[in-house]
Amino acid sequence: MKTRLSVNVNKIATLRNSRGQNTPNLLKVVEDIEGFGSDGITIHPRPDERHIRYSDALELSKIIKSELNVEGNPIDNFMQLVLKIKPTQVTLVPDGINNITSNSGWDTIKHSEFLGKKIEELKSCGIRTSVFVNPDPKMIRGAFEIGADRIELYTYHYAHQYKIDKENAISQYYQSAKEANKLGIGINAGHDLNLNNIGYFKQKISNLLEVSIGHALITESLYSGFENVISRYKAILG
Ligand code: PXP
Repeated sequence: MKTRLSVNVNKIATLRNSRGQNTPNLLKVVEDIEGFGSDGITIHPRPDERHIRYSDALELSKIIKSELNVEGNPIDNFMQLVLKIKPTQVTLVPDGINNITSNSGWDTIKHSEFLGKKIEELKSCGIRTSVFVNPDPKMIRGAFEIGADRIELYTYHYAHQYKIDKENAISQYYQSAKEANKLGIGINAGHDLNLNNIGYFKQKISNLLEVSIGHALITESLYSGFENVISRYKAILG
């Protein structure tokens, strides 16, 4: 089964913002990334707009030909944005305002009422919903019970343990995917995936629908170029 590659372009916006002008041009980069074969584009606007700005999201939503996945904490501003631009998918992430990057999945049991309401709102507008979770079968079941279409497995722990003991690194993810497949909820994954560790993850996690990759893919592209790197990911993902 093919796994779709969604390229997270936050880092492109960070680079642009560092000079206060429009180089690199985010819209042009996104068009090129799609041309090189990406199956989707992921953006993660944060309340302080330190990388992707809300205005970027508006512009991108008009030009993206593949799938747009918008990630973030469903605070009021975020919900207003996604209900306006109606991306293909919204991934709910419990990111705190001062976090450098996402550092945990949702507790889908503790926050079931809050998340359930947001999911209902998004689904009623035809937006596919995904909930970012740690690899814990209880959290997967929680996401299923509040009506999410998919989960996104937080792969930080896999990626870091992979270098030491890959069988141990995958085991919780394997159990979680088994639970997701039993329930019939879709599986996405992301965080710290790269060209070295993604093949084993793909091999062990059946029905992996989508991965979203930013930091490593951009770093790898500094050496090898987007076109080459994207085609290497695509070859691994089937
Ligand atoms: N998924 C979520 C929820 C994220 O916050 C991020 C990072 O913005 C990613 C996936 C992609 O992680 P990485 O940049 O390490 O590939």
